[in-house]
Order: sequence, then C-alpha cells, then structure tokens
Amino acid sequence: MDPRVSALPFDLHAWSNAHLLRVEQALSQWVSTETPTGVDHGAPAALVAAMRYAVLDGGKRLRPLLVMAAFEATQAEPSEDVPTAEAALRAACAVELIHAYSLVHDDMPCMDNDVLRRGKPTVHVQFGEASALLAGDALQALAFELLTPGSEVVSERRQASLCRQLARAAGSAGMAGGQAIDLASVGHALSEHQLRDMHRLKTGALLQASVMMGATCGQPTPAALAALEVYGAAVGLAFQVVDDILDVTADSATLGKTAGKDADQDKPTYVSILGLERSQAYAQELLAQALGALEGSGLAQTRALAGLAKMVVNRSS
Ligand code: IPE
Ligand code: IPE
Ligand code: MG
Ligand code: MG
Ligand code: MG
Repeated sequence: MDPRVSALPFDLHAWSNAHLLRVEQALSQWVSTETPTGVDHGAPAALVAAMRYAVLDGGKRLRPLLVMAAFEATQAEPSEDVPTAEAALRAACAVELIHAYSLVHDDMPCMDNDVLRRGKPTVHVQFGEASALLAGDALQALAFELLTPGSEVVSERRQASLCRQLARAAGSAGMAGGQAIDLASVGHALSEHQLRDMHRLKTGALLQASVMMGATCGQPTPAALAALEVYGAAVGLAFQVVDDILDVTADSATLGKTAGKDADQDKPTYVSILGLERSQAYAQELLAQALGALEGSGLAQTRALAGLAKMVVNRSS
C-alpha cells in the first residue's frame, strides 16, 4: 500500500458503507424472480417475497464484509482485477444467503421459536411455517447458484473451491451440525470444551469460511492463508461468545431480536458456563488472537480485517 495512505486513520464505517452499497444492490438484484444469470425462472412470487423479506433491509452483513476484507487483503492488483472482484461479490452474497437461511430456520417453532428478527416479525410469523421452511431451502440453493455463474467470469477451479468451502461450512460439519448439537444440548451443562466445539460449528464455521472464501478470490501466500485461518477461527468463535453475552446484557429493541432467550430456553452458553466477566475476558482474548494472526500474516493491507474483528467483539447489537 502507498505509505501515505497507510498513515491515514482507517475509517471502518466509510469502508463498510462503500462495500455494503454494492452488496445490498447485488442481493436485491439476485434474490428475485430472475436467476443470477438473468433468466426468469418463474419462481412463485410469494416464495420470492418471503426470501426477500428474510434477506433485505436488515442485518449487520458482517459475513459479506469479511469476504470483502479478506479479498482486499490478498488481492494482487486492486484496480484491474475485474473477474476476481466479481467472484468476491458473489461469494459475499452467497455467505449472506446461507446466513439468512440459517436465521429463518433457527427462528422456527421447532428450533428457537422466536418472533422477532432484525427488528421485524420472523419469517414464519409473517408468512407461515411452510413458507419459512421453503424460503430457507431456496436461499440455500440460490447461494450455490450465485457461486457458479455459467460464464467465464469466475474460473471453474475457483467456483469449485468456493462451493466446497461454503458447503462444508453450512453442512453437518459446520452450521447445521452445530445447530443439531445446540438443540440436543438444551438443559445440559456442557463442558467448556464441548461448548467451544458447538459454537465453532454453529457460527464459527461460516464466519471462518467467509474469510477463507474472500482469500480464495485473491492470491494469498500459503503463510497468509494459514494466518487468515487462525484469524477466522478466532473471530468466528468470538462472534458467538459475544452473541451469548448480548443475549443477557442488551435489550430486544437494540438487538432487533428477543433478548434473554437463551436462559429462558435453558441453552448452554458462554455466560451460563463461564459467567459474564469471564466470557467478556475470553472474547477479548480471542480478539488478541485474531489481531496477532494478522500481524504475523505478512499481509500489507489488514486494516479492514482488524477493524471488523474489533467490531465483532466490541459491538452492542
Ligand atoms: C445472529 O447473527 C445469529 C448468529 C449466528 C449468532 P448476526 O448477529 O450476524 O445477525 P444479523 O445478520 O446481523 O441479523
Ligand atoms: C444461531 O445461534 C446460530 C445460527 C446458525 C443461526 P442463536 O440461536 O444464538 O442465534 P440468535 O441469537 O437467535 O440470533
Ligand atoms: Mg439457535
Ligand atoms: Mg436463535
Ligand atoms: Mg443467540
């Protein structure tokens, strides 16, 4: 990076807003009755309405931002590389679609039975359970469609790698597996080790995959890739530790979802197992791990990744 640029204070808010504009536009365009390649696939309008409700107008979009930040940190020639920028935008939207689907299903009566999400009634409350189930299914499928444009824009090798990473992070070895452990753990006192494993799967895997998918769109060295893996694991786990903390310390209006649900539903969380203070200290420890990994990565442009890690741990919603 130009030393004059790196000497300026980094404005995470401005950086995020610039990327979010593109992500929001792309999501709105792609979650529609048309396919991501422009063909009208005749999807039932009511199903697409439920999908749009689940995805648009809300959410911090942390996962897309991690994709973009990891891509920027590992990009070879920032201004000229149109194909990899297109791949990164598709990856950013794909992870957000998987995340949105996971929230729709997480809120359903058979799981956490929540009525409020992103400050609005949950999808099953608004559209009914069957529509919520199908909207989640369709969002998951659309994520993989986005990653596989039928053009030469993204190389087939890169498409395959992105699909493999997202599938693994979303499936039984990732988010869905973690959610299964979460449901099976209600009312049980897990050990710290078991709790960490559950959180790594249910939330950490998709956040870590966001980082690694962003890097897959760039050209990282093996050392940078290894460092980003450590960074992603630390940020991913920290994210769910803080989610557990906020469930206890924040109110529903601030969170946009019902506070206090974990204790009500007797879920094992960092707060229930370590207590509030030790959980907060652990989140800071994970932040230090994430920042340490960036420092040793050999990457020049890590300010967005560092800013996002701090945001994850110090956020209030
Ligand atoms: C909430 O995720 C669900 C968890 C994985 C803990 P976020 O806090 O990222 O939710 P949005 O996307 O901002 O609504
Ligand atoms: C959900 O964890 C993680 C997902 C995979 C969606 P939580 O159940 O704690 O998420 P919130 O608190 O409802 O957002
Ligand atoms: Mg849950
Ligand atoms: Mg929940
Ligand atoms: Mg929670």
